[in-house]
Amino acid sequence: MQALLESILDDVRPLLGQGHVASYIPALSDVDPYQLGIAMLGTDGALYQAGDADTPFSIQSISKVFSLVQAISHGGESLWERLGHEPSGQAFNSLVQLEFEKGRPRNPFINAGALVIADINQSRYAAPILSMRDLVRRLTDNAQIISDRVVAESEYQHRARNAAMAYLMQSFGNFHNDVEAVLKSYFHHCALTASCVDLVRGFSFLANGGRCLHSDEHILTPRQTQQVNAIMATSGLYDEAGNFAYRVGLPGKSGVGGGIVAVVPGRYSICVWSPALNASGNSLVGMAVLERLSEQIGWSVF
Ligand code: DON
Repeated sequence: MQALLESILDDVRPLLGQGHVASYIPALSDVDPYQLGIAMLGTDGALYQAGDADTPFSIQSISKVFSLVQAISHGGESLWERLGHEPSGQAFNSLVQLEFEKGRPRNPFINAGALVIADINQSRYAAPILSMRDLVRRLTDNAQIISDRVVAESEYQHRARNAAMAYLMQSFGNFHNDVEAVLKSYFHHCALTASCVDLVRGFSFLANGGRCLHSDEHILTPRQTQQVNAIMATSGLYDEAGNFAYRVGLPGKSGVGGGIVAVVPGRYSICVWSPALNASGNSLVGMAVLERLSEQIGWSVF
């Protein structure tokens, strides 16, 4: 497995230089686009890593899975009164559908849906930024995980689109807390920094029937785990979810920091990172790595 990961990274290295790092968040625009790392953690505890797998990066929308887990843990099924679990077919930051559909986001992984989840968690936790950071520290088994204040502040300064979505949802009665406070929580979640090795630990519960591999902590029920994996498979890569299902065939979640997490249910959590993005905001080289991995091992949930 180790040799396979290294040979796949060598194979895709010529693609480095294609795509663009996220520039709509200025603090992310000067990240070196030539970085590339991968980690894989088996449910038997075997960890494999190659390239820049220990380098922390901005997890961005990968955090939306952790926020969803928080909301499921305290709200159960009731959260689906506020949003759906259908793919959107639209860009992650699109506004158009939200007005047609009366302020009810299609799913928890587009920005509008993640903002509703952040609003739900804001009602529940006295200190939502710290609660989320602590959950991620526990799941990754890394007490050093922090949210990058410079990135969070940069996102807040350039919040117009996310603020527009949140205020639109408020106008439809689907936002309960102060919009600016929820935006700050949401940006701090997105600005958490973690490495591929941290994130394979952090996502081990989704490969392991809802139990965290290193602590055996019960995070979700087996049924809830299947449901979160299903939403990742249908909506984790936004308007590219179909392409990801076709090319990789695994539940996955991407972020504009260039990370993509994927799950082989019952077997592995995987994280690949390379900062330059394709037109849908997903890591260009990360997609190529996961495609080769799934093809060479013959993995697909389909
Ligand atoms: O709100 C945003 O736009 C970012 N903080 C997160 C977007 C993101 O990661 C979408 N992923 N591909």
